[in-house]
Amino acid sequence: MRISALLLLAFSSVSVAKTASIASPNGNITISLSDELSTPSYSINFKNKTVIDNSALGFAFKQQAPFSEGFKITNTQQQSVNSQWQQPWGERTTVTDHHNEIAVTFSKADPHGGTYTVRVRAFNNGVGFRYEVPAQAGFENIAITKELTEFAIAGADNATAWWIPARGWNRYEYVYNTTPLQDAALVHTPFTFKNQDGVHLSIHEAALVDYAGMVLNQRRPGVFQADLTPWSDGIAVKKHGAFNTPWRTIQIAEKAVDLINSDIILNLNEPNKLGDVSWVKPGKYVGIWWGMHINTHTWGSGEKHGATTEHTKYYMDFAAEYGFDGVLVEGWNTGWDGDWFFNGDVFSFTQAYDDFDIDALAKYGKQHGVQLIGHHETSGNVTNYRNQMADAFALYEKSNVSQVKTGYVADGGNIKRIDQQGIARHEWHDSQFMVNEYLYNVTLAAKHKISINTHEPIKDTGLRRTYPNWITREGARGQEFNAWGTPPNPPEHIAMLAFTRMLAGPMDFTPGIFDLSFNGLGAETNRPQTTLAKQLALYVVLYSPIQMAADLPKNYLAKPDAFQFIQDVPTDWQQSIALDGEVGDFIVFARKERKRDKYTGNDWYLGAVTDEHARTIEVKLDFLEPGKQFEAHIYQDGKHAEWKNKPYDLNIEKRLVTANDKLTLKLATSGGTAIRFKAI
Ligand code: NOJ
Ligand code: CA
Repeated sequence: MRISALLLLAFSSVSVAKTASIASPNGNITISLSDELSTPSYSINFKNKTVIDNSALGFAFKQQAPFSEGFKITNTQQQSVNSQWQQPWGERTTVTDHHNEIAVTFSKADPHGGTYTVRVRAFNNGVGFRYEVPAQAGFENIAITKELTEFAIAGADNATAWWIPARGWNRYEYVYNTTPLQDAALVHTPFTFKNQDGVHLSIHEAALVDYAGMVLNQRRPGVFQADLTPWSDGIAVKKHGAFNTPWRTIQIAEKAVDLINSDIILNLNEPNKLGDVSWVKPGKYVGIWWGMHINTHTWGSGEKHGATTEHTKYYMDFAAEYGFDGVLVEGWNTGWDGDWFFNGDVFSFTQAYDDFDIDALAKYGKQHGVQLIGHHETSGNVTNYRNQMADAFALYEKSNVSQVKTGYVADGGNIKRIDQQGIARHEWHDSQFMVNEYLYNVTLAAKHKISINTHEPIKDTGLRRTYPNWITREGARGQEFNAWGTPPNPPEHIAMLAFTRMLAGPMDFTPGIFDLSFNGLGAETNRPQTTLAKQLALYVVLYSPIQMAADLPKNYLAKPDAFQFIQDVPTDWQQSIALDGEVGDFIVFARKERKRDKYTGNDWYLGAVTDEHARTIEVKLDFLEPGKQFEAHIYQDGKHAEWKNKPYDLNIEKRLVTANDKLTLKLATSGGTAIRFKAI
């Protein structure tokens, strides 16, 4: 009798199908979770139209039965948040976090079958959801073989997507493709696309910690499956006890620029865990770098060695004179001779080449108010780096270095780690192993008050909020591809990055190449495929709290008028607005300066870039404070400018403007406009 009563209870709880929904504060977006299909699922509506069809939720494990069939909604809980928080540095000082949340618990009738919660946050411009798996009997050791999360795109037939391939040898460093959505097979996030109704969406993730990176696999037309990058043993994620996944994010916007004018990724990250981070300093830098990429210098020792004491002093003098904060020096440490791409296990991170005197340079820098910026290239030999990391940061701290650029040059899937048995394993840059390795590096650096600029990184998922010393990173094709890439970055590259890679966070693109024909060959060879004005506009368009002036000092000295803009432009902002643009075509930004260590500053800046098409863009200046006068310093493509044959034709003019004015920007082919609005 007792037994049958229990069974009845269980039966009734599994037989009642349920849907739980939550809407965004403005009501435009609704996300619904359901147990009505054979597996738990979700769907999303935008303005009463489905944008994500029923899509599966759940996991498959190596040992336990999957979290899929037989799970029913057993609890829901809601809350609303409307709060603000401040960034120590960023695109804007104050970030608003306004969302409605629902936490939906799914459980199996069988008490040992498992339980998990999907926490969903609906913002006005998108949603985020994550899995929360509590500690429970039978799930002490978990090996996730697959996350079952799907993204079923509604109206995929006539959708257009902008994407780079995942699991490739070149990590995130690919030219972006524009294709029908159905041709995007296995892609990285942020994955941006426009559906048949012209709605722009972008799928990404936030707070990727101790978990595998997610790429998207189009398994059936329009249906993308979360595909977790595995360890070398094939397991996707290893966990012990309770855990939360990263947030799966779907940004939704009518206008392309509203994908950019969104703080979802940051809002879904945890607050700052480092306490006082006044030692993390935005700024501008120069460095012994471009010369190696265009072969005037070498990383390795010998006649053309770039990282000599003398050469560094020359850069420090230049930096001091023109207001740069730091000098990056690559190739200062032993290990670069021979084929450093493949022999990274011989890198020393403390032993300098004989012609590089780190103590003398630390002192020289101090006298001149310029810091040395450190460099740790690992060539993907992460155990070699891990073994030396503490000493390496201690040496840099002692040498007054507060920023280190790291590098993980290695083919995708070919990061070399030596396991506890001494066996070499080969891992992906976006595996759980490497996600942890990158964060270990950043948190150890924090103990030495050092900020990290990661090259060949894991993609950005907004962890700068939690660890503000993770100051910037690469994670896309940067300027270096214009020196030696096949092909170099195409004219549309920047207008593509703005709506894809840059949705993730800051990028160390290294703008500002002034000598656009360094190899003396024609337009179709390696060179930045831009005008000079566009190189200036990059400082406003591509956000990074540290920006390099990447060219050789002599090339800046040869064009002092254009160089003035690089001297003036800040790297930290009180506010940023993407004003106008279309993915891969053009983008216009306005940003308001934020002076160092203060929340003040009155100048505004504008940056606009176009693809291979020349274009005229009208910009209303209504972002400026009304009633105030500004002296606009305008750097724009000249009358005859076009990127191939007349890239240097640049017009610089000054004129008074107010918020009531409109400007007509004339951009040449692959051209740009950069403006400083100086408050007067
Ligand atoms: C690749 C980085 O992106 C580049 O900036 C650096 O110069 C080389 N690796 C060498 O570390
Ligand atoms: Ca790189």
